[in-house]
Amino acid sequence: MPSIDESKCVLVTGATAGIGRALALSIAGLPSNPKVVAAGRRMDRLGELAQSNLDTVQIDLDTDIDSLKKFVEDLVHKYPDLDTVVLCAGVQHEFDFKGEVNLAKLTSEININYTSIVAFISFIMPHFLKLAAQGQPCFIVPVTSGLGIVPAPSVLNYAASKAALRSFSTSLRVQLRETNVHILEIIPPLVESELHDAYDTTEKLSRFWMPLDEYTKITLEGLRRGDPYISAGASEDAFRRFEVEKYELAEAFQRHRETW
Ligand SMILES: NC(=O)c1ccc[n+]([C@@H]2O[C@H](COP(=O)([O-])OP(=O)(O)OC[C@H]3O[C@@H](n4cnc5c(N)ncnc54)[C@H](OP(=O)(O)O)[C@@H]3O)[C@@H](O)[C@H]2O)c1
Repeated sequence: MPSIDESKCVLVTGATAGIGRALALSIAGLPSNPKVVAAGRRMDRLGELAQSNLDTVQIDLDTDIDSLKKFVEDLVHKYPDLDTVVLCAGVQHEFDFKGEVNLAKLTSEININYTSIVAFISFIMPHFLKLAAQGQPCFIVPVTSGLGIVPAPSVLNYAASKAALRSFSTSLRVQLRETNVHILEIIPPLVESELHDAYDTTEKLSRFWMPLDEYTKITLEGLRRGDPYISAGASEDAFRRFEVEKYELAEAFQRHRETW
């Protein structure tokens, strides 16, 4: 299976914290020595990553489509070898629909977790298809969530955004099945990170989460095997229980469509 051991240049979004930061540093340490470009908003943290010999780029993904397109064009211009994107940036908010809902916050969550990722993929695709046709395997690595399989009602919009990204990734995998562009979906369970700081549940969740080091090791192994779905812990259980046949069924839809 093609795997990120073949990657020459890897962009990691959400690289200033948690899972993204751990993956960016681990990928940079692979024996194949790929160039890693770390993306995020916080300049101080990007500065720290630059000290570890990573390239860095500042981006706020909660932006308009034109700015995102310009960002991807500039990126491809600066890094013509870019063949892998790990789309890890994400936010999580709690909403209670029995009370007033902050719709601006809800829309922003959808934009960061879903719309900006889909737009990014559409803008990078011509470059990836070109590299792929020249024999270079390319990898799109969406970071979804076990909550995209089984939703947690307190973070209902987050779970819906991840379910959307999961569904999109499955269809994209089918659309790209005859190309050298590969989807390696990362489906984390609850993992040690700053994700839950925004609504004050970090202390309680820290009793249940998977330590970041343990999780990073499992995920890196999956990326190096080229596993199409890379899950762990509770998200692996949920995947086995509810998801195993979905790709084949989606592919059957597509085969049927191609006969029309
Ligand atoms: N930890 C978990 O339990 C868990 C479980 C399932 C899935 N996940 C998913 O794993 C991914 C990483 O989460 P994490 O747990 O590592 O969270 P984290 O520690 O909070 O890191 C989130 C990252 O996203 C970046 N980010 C947030 N908003 C952004 C924006 N508007 N523009 C650009 N970058 C932005 C942050 O960087 P800046 O603030 O510097 O921009 C940060 O680097 C997310 O997609 C999350 O949904 C996490």
